[in-house]
Amino acid sequence: MDNATYEQLTAIIYRESGIVFPIEKKALLVSRLRRRLTALRLSTEEEYLAALQLDRTGEEMTRLVDVVSTNVTHFYRESEQFQDLRSIIQNYRKSGKREIKIWCAAASSGEEPYTIAFEVLDEIDPANHSVRILASDICTKVLSQAVEGSYEEHMVAKVPEEIRDRHMEMSEHNGQRLWKVRPHIRRHIMFKRLNLVKFPYPLRGSIDIIYCRNVMIYFDVPTRKRVVAELERLLAPGGFLFLSQTENLLGIDHKLDRAGVSIYRKPSHGGNL
Ligand SMILES: C[S@@+](CC[C@H](N)C(=O)[O-])C[C@H]1O[C@@H](n2cnc3c(N)ncnc32)[C@H](O)[C@@H]1O
Repeated sequence: MDNATYEQLTAIIYRESGIVFPIEKKALLVSRLRRRLTALRLSTEEEYLAALQLDRTGEEMTRLVDVVSTNVTHFYRESEQFQDLRSIIQNYRKSGKREIKIWCAAASSGEEPYTIAFEVLDEIDPANHSVRILASDICTKVLSQAVEGSYEEHMVAKVPEEIRDRHMEMSEHNGQRLWKVRPHIRRHIMFKRLNLVKFPYPLRGSIDIIYCRNVMIYFDVPTRKRVVAELERLLAPGGFLFLSQTENLLGIDHKLDRAGVSIYRKPSHGGNL
């Protein structure tokens, strides 16, 4: 790919998804684009750029974002943070509050929001509480896997057996074991496509817990600042923001308090959780 094409394509990707592709990642981009070139029977990235610019339906832009996003995830990723989640939920239960709203803002193929749901629904009885989890991502491909909620045996290896058997059911397909999340968990989760770099987010505020892990690493600092401001706005007073343990808010203006390793809390005005 020539440099002019690289610059134009990466500018489009940045505008559409916030994902930054520095020049060192050119080989990665070329390899990810190969799938689109093959699908469209094109030979060069220059032809692909022209096809992308001609497409008025927006369909190819969606496919482009699907192939360039990195979707690595797994159940119980950074498992210590789920112990913190348990304590937060226990406090919430003691507070007598009857509703909890959680948003998983880069849900990928569903392992993270399902882990959250396992932990929350093991702590509070949905017969007496409303538990609503919104799981969103920009990538349509992973969102349909998340909606399906079916995982191969090796993908559920990190789920403790007793939790797995309570919340997932096993079936065999062509000699392969599949674990599907049971309906009593699924009914609490709504999946939706949401782009974190399109502001303001189309969501009502007062969210008790926001997970936004391992996505801002793909954004530059100005984008991170806007994302954090928006997450802060949408959090309920006393609400929690979970980042990945490798992320923090250094260099970003905010009014959140630290509440754990890469966990932040919006100051409470009168107590929420
Ligand atoms: C590495 S995965 C992290 C998944 C999960 N949060 C975790 O920590 O395991 C990053 C996810 O962010 C999503 N993503 C990237 N840019 C995004 C954007 N602008 N808006 C929403 N999601 C985005 C990707 O599609 C991908 O599924």
